[in-house]
Amino acid sequence: MGSIRSKLVVVGVGHVGSQVLNCAASLKLFSEIVAIDKIESKAKGEALDISHFTSSDYINNVNIRSGGYEECKDADIIIISAGPSIMPNKDIKKLDRLALASQNVPVMKEIISSITKYTKDAVIIIITNPLDVMVYYAQNFFGYSKNKIFGTGTSLDSARFKRIIADKYNVDPKSVQGYMMGEHGNSAFPAWSLLRIAGISYDDLDKYFNPKEHLDCDNVASEVVEVAYSVLNMKGYTNSGIAMAACRLAEAVLLNERTILPVSSTLEGEYGLRDVALSIPTIIGKNGIEKRIQVPLSDDEINKLKESAESVLKTIKSVGL
Ligand code: LAC
Repeated sequence: MGSIRSKLVVVGVGHVGSQVLNCAASLKLFSEIVAIDKIESKAKGEALDISHFTSSDYINNVNIRSGGYEECKDADIIIISAGPSIMPNKDIKKLDRLALASQNVPVMKEIISSITKYTKDAVIIIITNPLDVMVYYAQNFFGYSKNKIFGTGTSLDSARFKRIIADKYNVDPKSVQGYMMGEHGNSAFPAWSLLRIAGISYDDLDKYFNPKEHLDCDNVASEVVEVAYSVLNMKGYTNSGIAMAACRLAEAVLLNERTILPVSSTLEGEYGLRDVALSIPTIIGKNGIEKRIQVPLSDDEINKLKESAESVLKTIKSVGL
């Protein structure tokens, strides 16, 4: 019987990447996990630290270590979280991930160039911001199979949206079907027409769940986008939510679950959009992106998606891609 082995490489083990290592080891997803960081001692320290909890009963004996890009050769999944991230700033309500583009395009160039020296088979999940610009760059400029590269996108924003809706209606977030779509950033928007709780659409929710107050759509949309900044200003960074989002996607690939989640990839005509990466509901399986789904949206939601595309496209062009 062949051994069940799956190997994860995490590139960049700062606040986010170290949490990805933690989640991946805790979720028993991999038999091998390798940490790569330009500060080698950081990668070594993170791997050594996590290796000690593999002696407990609830974690499998994962082989976790630090290493170089040669470890990508037989990797099944590569998660990229390297590069500067948005910094706390209590003076402004909305920070702009897109402002990181000029810093992180060179970072992504070095990483993807290094990875492609060793593999063209691993599924690559990108976290680095500005996420949609990074995904567009990685998918289109390195000759890698496009379906094998995607970004966490609004899968995290959707988890935040579902948590906020679940709290307002006092139900389990897992019972909420809802999507934030577009940019992983300030132009992300809730697709209200797709929101369901037990199959009940937005217009009828008050009748069934008697919330303390009627849901204000505009407030919720801003709350979802701004909650990242609240966390950032409270703890100095975000890492737990995004790490779980990335590991959930890795699991869907490894187990070929064909899970539908909103992830970022370069659109190829969906909603009349192409040459821009955005998040729309996508089937995720062993090949990475199995199929993007052009879910039915209201005219207003399609306009919001196109505005989001404009916002990301402007940054893509501003960094010469
Ligand atoms: C966040 C970062 C990952 O939204 O962009 O938490």
